[in-house]
Amino acid sequence: MSLLSMTLALATTSAAALADDASDLAARGHYLAIAGDCAACHTAEHGDPFAGGKAIATPLGQIFSTNITPSTSAGIGDYTFADFDRALRHGVRRDGSNLYPAMPYTAYAKISDEDMKALYAYFHGAVMPVDKKPDHQTALPFPFNLRFSMAGWNLLFARETPDAPDASQSPEWNRGRYLSEALGHCQTCHTPRNLLMAEEASKGMSGASLGQWYAPNITSDRARGIGAWSAAQIAEYLKNGHSSVGSQAGGPMLEAINMSFSKLSDPDLNAIATYISSLPAVISEGHDKTSATGRPVTNDLSLMSGSADAGQQIYADNCATCHQSTGAGGRGLPALVANAALTRPVADNAVMAVLDGLSPPQGHDMPAFADKLDDREVADLTNFLFRQFGDPSIQTTEQQVKILRAGGAPSNLIQLAQIGMVIAAVILFAVIAGNSILIARRRRRARSRQPFAS
Ligand code: HEC
Ligand code: HEC
Ligand code: HEC
Repeated sequence: MSLLSMTLALATTSAAALADDASDLAARGHYLAIAGDCAACHTAEHGDPFAGGKAIATPLGQIFSTNITPSTSAGIGDYTFADFDRALRHGVRRDGSNLYPAMPYTAYAKISDEDMKALYAYFHGAVMPVDKKPDHQTALPFPFNLRFSMAGWNLLFARETPDAPDASQSPEWNRGRYLSEALGHCQTCHTPRNLLMAEEASKGMSGASLGQWYAPNITSDRARGIGAWSAAQIAEYLKNGHSSVGSQAGGPMLEAINMSFSKLSDPDLNAIATYISSLPAVISEGHDKTSATGRPVTNDLSLMSGSADAGQQIYADNCATCHQSTGAGGRGLPALVANAALTRPVADNAVMAVLDGLSPPQGHDMPAFADKLDDREVADLTNFLFRQFGDPSIQTTEQQVKILRAGGAPSNLIQLAQIGMVIAAVILFAVIAGNSILIARRRRRARSRQPFAS
């Protein structure tokens, strides 16, 4: 072989190797985008992948996700790696404006540099550009349209960085923590927030309301959390949407499972399960599951006969065909006796499951009853379920069903914007006050120095 052809051959192989490296990186980025569930928010129903336009409802108006395809006219085609990194970690756009925290940047701040590069390679090398801005843009009314209010909040709370590996734990545990907290952002839903809407680290993963749905305690406390679940049962739930301990995912959890967790590799699901089952027990407020678990399945035939209890009658007419009059389920349909949905500290998830139904990635669907039952009927039915099969101390009201049907309690985001603005105002005030004190002091000092100076 001549020297020239050898050099040529070398050059082509290294070019091919480079291309391979780039496509490897993009392929890894693809998997990470699934683990980070980017599509759940950035792909609208029947829309092009990542072209944005999905509405996130708030009582003040809708927040629409943006186009994150590599289009230079409508997407993030002109984002450099540094711009992309800043948007994901700090919630700041290329033009310097703040993103609303509907984008989970406090969690993505923990993504490793290596993975951030892979995500960038995927979004700029493998995602198809869509040269069209979403049909709808976010336009919250004043004062919520002032994006800088987020800057005040970020200054105080949003400064997480990638976690250093914990050497006292196994590589599997460390991988699980990373997948859960950086990409899977479990804590953004499962960790309660304080008055300033910051996650309360000391109560990590001990349960929080998301408006319509309640994200339950998933710490290892046996009575309030999932301490009774094995790691294998947690992995099963993340893969299939339900677990053999009698819990079925609905709402935002089911969405995350359908689009993200169910598509992760088994080793990654096991890693998440290993980490989650190690979470220190946090005793959340006011409720103990054991009041419902261990309830006997009674063969209560009165359910089938006409009865004074309206909820009982609605159950017999609509639900007993699948869940049995005794609530025992069977033939692949879940039991309602001691079902996780009926041992939560609030009735909201049971109400939402009845209104919206459930479509898990594996197994049978639960039909939606929103069009069939009115608010009064859903409330009567839910109260019957808790009395008969679950924690009888938990009840709901017609008013609450009405609120849930309309989209839930005011979202955190609104409070966040208000608080952010207050903080921004306080900081501004402090800076002005600080400056004027300094100026006054300098003046005083200058005055007191004068006698000596003269
Ligand atoms: C829970 C919903 C949600 C998830 C999950 C999510 N995003 Fe976002 N993202 C949003 C919303 C909403 C906006 C626009 C917010 C606004 O207008 O302030 C946004 C904005 C962005 C922007 C700024 C683009 C611009 O200039 O407008 C980038 C970049 C981005 N997201 C990338 C990602 C990536 C990459 C992932 C996955 C790792 C991801 N997002 C996951 C909701 C989400
Ligand atoms: C977008 C919000 C959201 C995210 C992100 C999220 N969850 Fe959930 N999770 C929920 C909600 C809401 C429920 C309740 C579902 C129901 O009752 O049907 C739930 C339920 C669960 C349950 C069932 C607990 C029980 O007692 O039945 C487990 C386990 C769980 N989540 C684990 C996780 C893990 C692990 C992650 C991260 C890898 C995660 N979740 C991410 C909202 C979320
Ligand atoms: C066609 C069969 C069918 C009917 C009718 C039905 N269900 Fe279900 N239900 C299911 C299935 C299947 C699941 C579990 C889905 C899964 O695994 O995700 C379920 C789950 C549930 C859950 C658990 C929800 C959660 O988030 O954990 C509750 C509560 C429930 N059903 C109540 C009812 C009530 C009340 C009615 C009557 C209004 C009813 N079901 C009617 C099939 C049915």
